[in-house]
Amino acid sequence: MARFTARALANVALVKYFGKRDTELNLPAAGSLSIALEPLATTTTVEFDEALPADRVALDDAPAPSEFAARVSRFLDLVRDRAGTSLRARVKTANEFPTAAGLASSASGFAALAVAASGAAGLQLGDSELSALARRGSGSACRSIPGGVAVWEAGVDPDGHDSIARRIAAPDELDLRVVVGIADAGPKPLGSTTSMERVRRTSPYYRAWVESTASDLEVAAAAVADRDYARLGEVAERSALGMHAAALAARPGILFWNGTTVAALRCIRELRAAGHGVWFTCDAGPQPKALCRSADEPAVAAAFEQLAGIEQVIRCRIGGGATLIG
Ligand code: PMV
Repeated sequence: MARFTARALANVALVKYFGKRDTELNLPAAGSLSIALEPLATTTTVEFDEALPADRVALDDAPAPSEFAARVSRFLDLVRDRAGTSLRARVKTANEFPTAAGLASSASGFAALAVAASGAAGLQLGDSELSALARRGSGSACRSIPGGVAVWEAGVDPDGHDSIARRIAAPDELDLRVVVGIADAGPKPLGSTTSMERVRRTSPYYRAWVESTASDLEVAAAAVADRDYARLGEVAERSALGMHAAALAARPGILFWNGTTVAALRCIRELRAAGHGVWFTCDAGPQPKALCRSADEPAVAAAFEQLAGIEQVIRCRIGGGATLIG
């Protein structure tokens, strides 16, 4: 069978996904909005082979850790089911950014795997079907299929058919950059499903978080349509703070930040007070992310580089969707 290679980008949510209405299908409690981050890419090659007794998974040119390989195999089972095959596959996946840099690679990874594996299995899936498939690997991966500025609708269908991401703006339609600071390159202490489920079950703020996310999504999508960067930035900050507030209030509370993260968030607010168009966001980990206009990017990157505790600064621009490259 043929060998297929796909490339997909990581994405950062400006309106966050944090809470599932179905953990098996990765259906979110509320919609979210993201931008794809070039150059944070994963490239994945898949080849089904009748000579293989089991799936063989390599990550960054070495045999993948067993937990990672098992997650890939479970995802391939979805593709095999759909294609009516039981063939095992050889999977080679590599991140163009350091895997150990503390940046989530599951979105780019499962988007690239969905495109490469479905192609290699002979499935011809449209973008909506690919988005729904990628979502099964990792919720946020569904937004890396369309890339650009993407909205993932919560949907209402129990089977998730309407819970897919679509692009609302192409990469060159918005003048936005994301400057990522690495405040701790170590692995995440808690997986996203574990933390989301703890917050859903125990945080007294969870309901309010889900309700405010629905209205934040409307405001953010309108801000994108109007190219209203200040409005978009404000929503991004409050969505990130709301997600972290709900997590802090869980029992036991989840604190994703370290001291460097807090210093970076304060630094971004100081830059804004000094007249720069810059806002922050932060995911389920300590890395601060600054959202800014291209004219403000040099000042933001320079400020991050001077902050004690920031190990690395990565400048990103808005990128495109997942594509087959071979
Ligand atoms: O796709 P997951 O299960 O890794 O969840 C991602 C969750 C956040 O990154 C915290 C928020 C988001 O919308 O990407």
